[in-house]
Formats: sequence, C-alpha cells, structure tokens
Amino acid sequence: MFIIVFQMKKRILTGITTTGTPHIGNYLGAIKPALELVAPDNESYFFLADYHALIKQTDSSEIETSVKNVALAWLSSGLDPKKSHFYRQSDIPEVHELTWILNCSAAKGLLNRAHAYKSLVAENSQAGDDDDRAINMGLFSYPVLMAADILIFNATHVPVGPDQAQHMEMARDIAGKFNHTYSNLLTLPEALIQNEISVPGIDGRKMSKSYKNIIPFLCSEKVLQKSIAKIITNSLEPGEPKDHKSCTLFQLYSFFATNEQIVNMKQSYSDGIAWGDVKKDLFSVINDEIMPIREKYFELQNKPDLLNDLFSDGAKKVRPQAQELVGKLREAVGISKIV
Ligand code: TRP
Repeated sequence: MFIIVFQMKKRILTGITTTGTPHIGNYLGAIKPALELVAPDNESYFFLADYHALIKQTDSSEIETSVKNVALAWLSSGLDPKKSHFYRQSDIPEVHELTWILNCSAAKGLLNRAHAYKSLVAENSQAGDDDDRAINMGLFSYPVLMAADILIFNATHVPVGPDQAQHMEMARDIAGKFNHTYSNLLTLPEALIQNEISVPGIDGRKMSKSYKNIIPFLCSEKVLQKSIAKIITNSLEPGEPKDHKSCTLFQLYSFFATNEQIVNMKQSYSDGIAWGDVKKDLFSVINDEIMPIREKYFELQNKPDLLNDLFSDGAKKVRPQAQELVGKLREAVGISKIV
C-alpha cells in the first residue's frame, strides 16, 4: 500500500508598518530573520502596511518617505521580488472589503482587550482623562485590518515579534467565527513568534526611535562610524580588565561577529582592551555586513521608477488572488448576483 503525503507549501506572510526609517535594531530583529525564511519550498509574501501607518502618523510627507525607506531597506537587505511577493497594502483594495466583512464577525469585546488599546485607555484613566481621549478608530480596529492582511492571501505562517502574538490570536478567532457562521473559506494562520532579540542602542537601552538612541544602517560609512563613537561606555582605562557581559559594545559586536571573533573579543576584554579599539572592531564587523546593503540602497535611492514598477508588478501578481477570495466571501454572505 502506498501512502502519499502531500506536503502543503507554507505560505509565509508578514507586514511592515511604514513609520520611520529602519535602523540596525529593525534589521537584526525583523528584516534579517524574515528574509531567512525565504526558501524554494515556501511561498513568501512581504508587504508594506502603509494604511496601518496612518494610525500614528498624520504627516503625509513622513508617510511617503517612510514607505520609500522601508521598501529600500528590505530590497537592499536581500528581498528578491522574483522570489517573494512584495507589494503595498494600499494597492490591494480588497483588503478593505475583507476588513468590513471581518468587522462584522469580530466581537467588540475581543478588540476591547487588545494590549495597545488597553494601555492607552489605562494611561488616560490614570491621567484623569476620558478613557478614549486621543484614541482613533484606526487604533481600536487595527487588529481587524491586520487579520484582513493575513486572511486575504490564505497565509499559513506569519512571522511576527512577540508583541504581535495577541493580534495573531485575534486573527484566528475572527477567521474561526466567520468560518463557523458562513463556510470554511478562511485559512487559520499560525504565528511564527520570532525570538525577541534585544538590540541595545547607543545609551544601552533597547534601540528605539522613541529613545533617540538608534544606530542607522542606511547611511554613509562616516555616519555609521560617528554613531558607534557615541555609544556610552564606562570610564575604565586601557589596560584595565573589562566585563563583556553587561557591555553594550560587546552585545552589538556579537550580533555581527563570527564565533571565533567573539571568543577573541572576550579575551581582549579581560586583557584590558581600550574602548576606542572595541569601537573600531565593532565598526569593522558591522561595516563588513552593511557595505553591500548600503551600496544597493544608494543605488536604488535614485531610481523612484524602479520602486513604482515593483509596487505595480507586486500588486498585479497578488491582487487576482485577493479578488477571487473576496468574490467567494461576498457570495457566502449573500452579496452576489441576484438570481
Ligand atoms: N502590526 C504589525 C507590526 O506592527 C504589522 C502588520 C500589519 C502585520 N499587518 C500585518 C504583520 C500582517 C504581520 C501580518 O509589526
């Protein structure tokens, strides 16, 4: 007897909110691990969540710049649009049709429990303000738009940071409710929760735009060097033994160095290496990895047509799938041709 096992292709999908310009922390924590999932027996969908960005950003030129920089960051870091589907959320209007359909399956109580919304409510109430002060409906219903992003393409696996685990549960919940009410048309996605890697910024706290402690990577060699020079160390002199464990420079170094280099660096710390020399070595390992990315970034930066063409090709490739699913969903809910 033969047993034939069909291995379903994994369909990996993830979205990147287009706010700000990606820094080394984003590169190590999100871009690199997501691109490592691209493999010949997976399908991968990467998209720019530009409608999600509107929740927090009302400056239109910031949105425009960020879409460009985020796209260039991914492309320069190795995203190959021939091997992955790469598109803008806003180029797939069916996402919004699905969002509405899902809104009608999503319990308001479920969304009341979303961390991002709850923590803002808590802040307001602590300040003695109205609970919903400065909270827009975009923020409140953010998880429904995210569910639509995922469900519209029948994604099976969604790599996200631990902060998105709850949104993934909600996506499954909402999809399950739809399937139960109408018919099994939506694929319940699995979250691939990526280990939170804590990349320190120049002041030793987690690297974040809001702490103003970032190290950029889409920048010239000089700017990279300058920002590494700003990393805060203690005042131990050259020759004095140093502890690598709690050291920002060492933590950053270990993200880019080989195992052998890391072992040697630990030894140099005990031998009393000067901070200036650690910074030189840190610059060199980061620069070695970033150099080809930087070159590609500067090359692509002057080709806006290329980006526009990529977006339009990306949408052309995936939109028919979205249209097909929405067609079935409309029929399932009773919005179709009258017979
Ligand atoms: N909410 C995600 C974040 O901030 C971005 C995102 C939007 C997303 N839609 C998605 C991630 C769909 C995965 C799948 O990180």
